[in-house]
Amino acid sequence: MASGRPAVAATTVLLFALGCSGAGETGAPAAQSTAPPGIASPASPPPAAAGPGAPGIGDPDFPGDGNGGYDVEHYALKLGYTPESRHLSGVATIKAKALHELTSFNLDLSGFTIERISVSDGGDSWQRGLAFERSGDELTVAPVNPIPAGAAFTVEVVYAGEPKPVRGSSNLGTYGFIPTRDGAFVTCEPNGAKTWFPGNDHPADKALFDFEITVPAGLTALANGELDGEPVTRDGKTTYVWREKHPMVTYLATMTLGRFELREGETASGIKNLAAVDPRYRDSLDDLYTLSGKITDHWATVFGPYPFSSTGGVVDDFSAGYALENQTKPMYGGFDPDEDIIAHELAHQWFGNSLSITRWKDLWLNEGFATYSEWIWSEHQGKSTAEQIFRRHYSADDDDPIWSYPPGRAEPDDLFNNSVYTRGGMALHALRQRIGDQVFFDLLKTWTTDHKYGYVTTEEFIALAERLSGKQLDALFDVWLFRQGKPATW
Ligand code: TRP
Ligand code: ZN
Repeated sequence: MASGRPAVAATTVLLFALGCSGAGETGAPAAQSTAPPGIASPASPPPAAAGPGAPGIGDPDFPGDGNGGYDVEHYALKLGYTPESRHLSGVATIKAKALHELTSFNLDLSGFTIERISVSDGGDSWQRGLAFERSGDELTVAPVNPIPAGAAFTVEVVYAGEPKPVRGSSNLGTYGFIPTRDGAFVTCEPNGAKTWFPGNDHPADKALFDFEITVPAGLTALANGELDGEPVTRDGKTTYVWREKHPMVTYLATMTLGRFELREGETASGIKNLAAVDPRYRDSLDDLYTLSGKITDHWATVFGPYPFSSTGGVVDDFSAGYALENQTKPMYGGFDPDEDIIAHELAHQWFGNSLSITRWKDLWLNEGFATYSEWIWSEHQGKSTAEQIFRRHYSADDDDPIWSYPPGRAEPDDLFNNSVYTRGGMALHALRQRIGDQVFFDLLKTWTTDHKYGYVTTEEFIALAERLSGKQLDALFDVWLFRQGKPATW
């Protein structure tokens, strides 16, 4: 689901206003364009001549990630998993739109044996048992007849095998589908979705997701969005159907499996709330549920209405030591989450999940904002103010590594550097100091409203900050985001 051209976006906005669907029978809103007039949005490059779809979506830092030539609208993932054998069987049905005439196209998939690939270009005419090629994590599918430019088409991939997580070559650690004793811990940022389903594994292509997950009876399967009906148990297996009805990037998708204790209900403002914890973290369940609800409601007053249909969180017994902002269900890996990290992951539901980056170099738009949100939460709680936290970080020595890494340009071999988080948060505080609380908080709400369910770039944020404040802010953003060295004045 790419942003369309500006004319398309205008239509989408109009449909929103009318309360109609912009995305077919699912009744879900379509992702909105953020592309300035005359500039094609990232996932829809200028129409190319007929030919193969590109093996990458065009992020120069991650050239193999995602794919070109098409735009996914919807993933339907039918998945079965047995923890004992670590066997996953999947049927992925992917609805997409061709951006140019496609003689072939690529999907990202890591491992597995492919049993069958079929393509339909609409109607009932399926081309089954298609030829495909695999090279590394690229799967190339060649339909018998090329897919016409602009056509909606459906790909079905039947696959099976033992999922293997990505063991980060750099400092990313292990991510993707991670088997655990009683199931799986699935956290995929930045490009680990390909470890459990074929797709366009880059944030520049959002889509809607349906999951149908079958596990041995007694286990719970947790995915994004909300359950559709009660789980059904038959022949010792239970099937859970989850639907995420809002656009989602692939790295936020999850199918976390295992034994879980659940608490369900609604936040004070009426948002569905689901907390799930591995029995080992039983004592965290009530706090996770209560804090997630309270913080989601508070963020809605600061950042604008909650963009999704449910909130909550999951604590699993896998000592990742980190958390991920999985859409509607942030995941906490092997620790008792405190309110700072819950505030962080829930802030991501706006910054990163509703508003998504199209290039990994802009990651501070996710992590800097989520980190700054922790400081706002602290201030709101009557603890340290954001100013105090800013000063504490600002007092770091001149040779502290935070000053040698400009956070506005996240480096592919060190994406999640502390600077992207902390100095990114400091950049927002420097901005708040300069433009004042009223304009700053108006800016946050305008930003989340203008790009709801869409895509964002750093340039767009700077332009909006300048427009709303009426100030020239190049120097401020330059020293905080793009320059090496400890900023002295701004
Ligand atoms: N985005 C996560 C955060 O909020 C950090 C993160 C990056 C992560 N990559 C991950 C977490 C992979 C789990 C798996 O800080
Ligand atoms: Zn984060």
